[in-house]
Amino acid sequence: MKNVLIIGSTGQIGSELTMELRNRYNGNIVAGYIPGAEPKGDLLESGPAEIADITDAQKIADIVSKYNIDTIYNLAALLSAVAESKPQLAWKIGMGGLCNVLEVSREKGCAVFTPSSIGVFGNDTPKDQTPQDTICRPATMYGVTKVSGELLSDYYHARFGVDTRSVRFPGLISNVAPPGGGTTDYAVDIYYEAVKSGHFSCPIPKGTFMDMMYMPDALRAAIDLMEVDPACLKHRNSFNIAAMSFDPEIIFNAIKKRMPEFTMDYNIDPLRQRIAESWPNSLDDTCAREEWGWKPSYDLETMTDDMLTILKQRFNK
Ligand code: SER
Repeated sequence: MKNVLIIGSTGQIGSELTMELRNRYNGNIVAGYIPGAEPKGDLLESGPAEIADITDAQKIADIVSKYNIDTIYNLAALLSAVAESKPQLAWKIGMGGLCNVLEVSREKGCAVFTPSSIGVFGNDTPKDQTPQDTICRPATMYGVTKVSGELLSDYYHARFGVDTRSVRFPGLISNVAPPGGGTTDYAVDIYYEAVKSGHFSCPIPKGTFMDMMYMPDALRAAIDLMEVDPACLKHRNSFNIAAMSFDPEIIFNAIKKRMPEFTMDYNIDPLRQRIAESWPNSLDDTCAREEWGWKPSYDLETMTDDMLTILKQRFNK
């Protein structure tokens, strides 16, 4: 039996990860949320839910005790573009929150998963097939919190034996909870606009490649990594993982092949352009493949088929 607390359970990753964990495990899978982002529907009805503000360490500790939690998925964060408009809050949630989670976990013996991101890389990082262990000097507050979080998580493992593990997620594409304020989110919006209006104005310039991943693969990555025998792990915080890399033209053409009347123009957002251009074109995920058997199951074609089928049904198109 596993007892899990998901902090940020109603967010883009959390809303699907919480349901996946409830399908897999029969313990207490607690949906942690903040007021204003309450769980609804299946997420609310299928298991316990608690207010779990990551900036309130005592509250996190109380929930861990109440449900005998053994694993925390710490998903609270401001995504890259939003974090640039609120850098102090991004630090408070990203690093202050992580400190709280790690301290509670040290005291109570929890394992901790904290997502990292392609945002840890910056302009000095090798752009193509970016290695696992390389220069991490990000140009964004989001990246600063993620690199710092990787270091602090490794420190807590080395110094206190806390079982911390993490992957560097690429842009995540899903059709459940909408993302909020990321740089890669154009690759979600494009599917919604293709189905809803038949036209998309792209904020990211043509020729800007970034790594992306379909949500089912991302969920599997997080859970598989937390389940693997720790003796297999040479790295912990954090693993490069990859599934596909494309620029706006490539994803546009994948959709247009299936919806010939779809059109796209460009309306570049300079902030997102700056961030996207500082991130890698593609990651080398050999270490994740070798150490814990990572392998994606979706590519751009299979993801596009799935996204369009689901969204067309949802919007009656
Ligand atoms: N999807 C995130 C963002 O664009 C990157 O991890 O901010």
